Amino acid sequence: MPTATQTLVDPQPQLQLGEEVLYLSKQEVLNLGIGRSEILDLTRDTLIEHGNHRYEMPAKIGVHPYPEVFYHAMPAYVPGMNAVGCKWIECYPNNPSKFGLPQTTGLMVINDVESGVPVAIMDSTWVTAMRTPAVTVLAAAKLHPGAETFGMFGCGVQGKEHVRYAAEALPGLKTVYVYDTREEAADALIAELQGEVPFTLVKGASAEAVAKSAEVLSSATLIIKEPLSVVKDEWISAGQTILPCDLNTFWDPRISQRADKYIVDSIEEHELFAEMGYFPDGLPAIAAETGEVIADVKQGRENADQIIVNSNIGMAVCDVVVGRAIYDRAVALGAGTALSL
Ligand SMILES: NC(=O)c1ccc[n+]([C@@H]2O[C@H](COP(=O)([O-])OP(=O)(O)OC[C@H]3O[C@@H](n4cnc5c(N)ncnc54)[C@H](O)[C@@H]3O)[C@@H](O)[C@H]2O)c1
Repeated sequence: MPTATQTLVDPQPQLQLGEEVLYLSKQEVLNLGIGRSEILDLTRDTLIEHGNHRYEMPAKIGVHPYPEVFYHAMPAYVPGMNAVGCKWIECYPNNPSKFGLPQTTGLMVINDVESGVPVAIMDSTWVTAMRTPAVTVLAAAKLHPGAETFGMFGCGVQGKEHVRYAAEALPGLKTVYVYDTREEAADALIAELQGEVPFTLVKGASAEAVAKSAEVLSSATLIIKEPLSVVKDEWISAGQTILPCDLNTFWDPRISQRADKYIVDSIEEHELFAEMGYFPDGLPAIAAETGEVIADVKQGRENADQIIVNSNIGMAVCDVVVGRAIYDRAVALGAGTALSL
C-alpha cells in the first residue's frame, strides 16, 4: 500500500505533505514553460475521460454580488488522470472598462488524491487562458476537419490565445479573420501574432463580413444574460461551425435554435446557466457533449452542409488536469514557494 507521499510525482523534499502547500504565482506558472502542444494533449485526454463519463464534476455553484457578475466554485476529480482540485473564479464583464482589470481572475487548489491534503495553490489566469482555446480548437478540428478559414470575435486574452492555438491544431488554415469592437485590439493582435502564425491574419471590416467569410467561427467577448445578437441569423449559412466561449451572448439565439446540432461541453453547466437566466429564449436541444464527440462516443458532423454550434463554457475537469500537470512540473523543477498550512 503506497503512502500518501509516494503518490506524488517526485515530491520536492522540502514540501511536507499535510504541513505545507506549494504557492505558484502567475509568473511562476508561466516560467514552467508548459507548451501549447502539451496543453492540447492534456485537454484531449481530459475530454476523452469526460466523454466516457469517467469524472466527477458538479455544476458550478456561485455567488452574484451584482446582476451581471458571477463567482464560481469549480471542483472536479478525474480519476484516470490522478487530478482533483477546485478553481475559484470571478467574471466581472465591466472590469476592463471600469477598473482596467481583467474580466476573469482566480485561484486554483490542487489536492493529493490519496490523502486529500492540498498540495498547491496557484493563480489560475494562465490555466484559464490556455485550456479554453485548447477545447475550441480540438472541437474545431473534429467538427470541421480541413477548414481553411477561421473567424475570431473578440481580440482580448482569449481571442489572442485562440489564434495561437488555431495555429497548433488546425493545420489547413490559410486565413484567420479577427474582429473586435475596439479596433486597436484587433490591430494589436495582428501586430503581435502575424510573425508567429503560419496563416494570414486579416482584420475583419465588420462582424457581418467575418461571419460570412469563415467556415469556422469562435467568440470570446463577454457573457451577459441578454443576448447581444451581434451576429445575425441570416449571415450564417450551411456548413459553418460556430464555437462560442461566451455562451449565447454574441449570437442571434435563432442560430443555435436552428442549428443541425447544438453541442455543449457540459449539459449540466448549460442547464445551470439557463436556470440563472442566461438563455432567455430557451436552451436549444442538446445533441451531444464535446467530450463525447472527441471520444467518438457520439457523432459530431454528419455531412458538409450541417450548421453546428458547439458552446464550451469551460469545465473544471480541464482545469484540475492542467493544474495537476503544473504542480508536477513545479515540483520537478523546484519552482514556487512552500507555505505552512
Ligand atoms: N468558456 C470558457 O471557458 C471561458 C474561459 C475564460 C473566459 N471566457 C469568456 O470569454 C470572454 C472573453 O474573455 P477574455 O479574458 O478574452 O476577455 P478580454 O476582456 O481580454 O477580451 C474581450 C474582448 O472582446 C471585445 N468585445 C466586447 N464586446 C464585443 C463585441 N460586441 N464585438 C466584438 N468584440 C467585443 C472587447 O473589446 C475585448 O477586446 C469573456 O466573456 C469570458 O467570460 C470563457
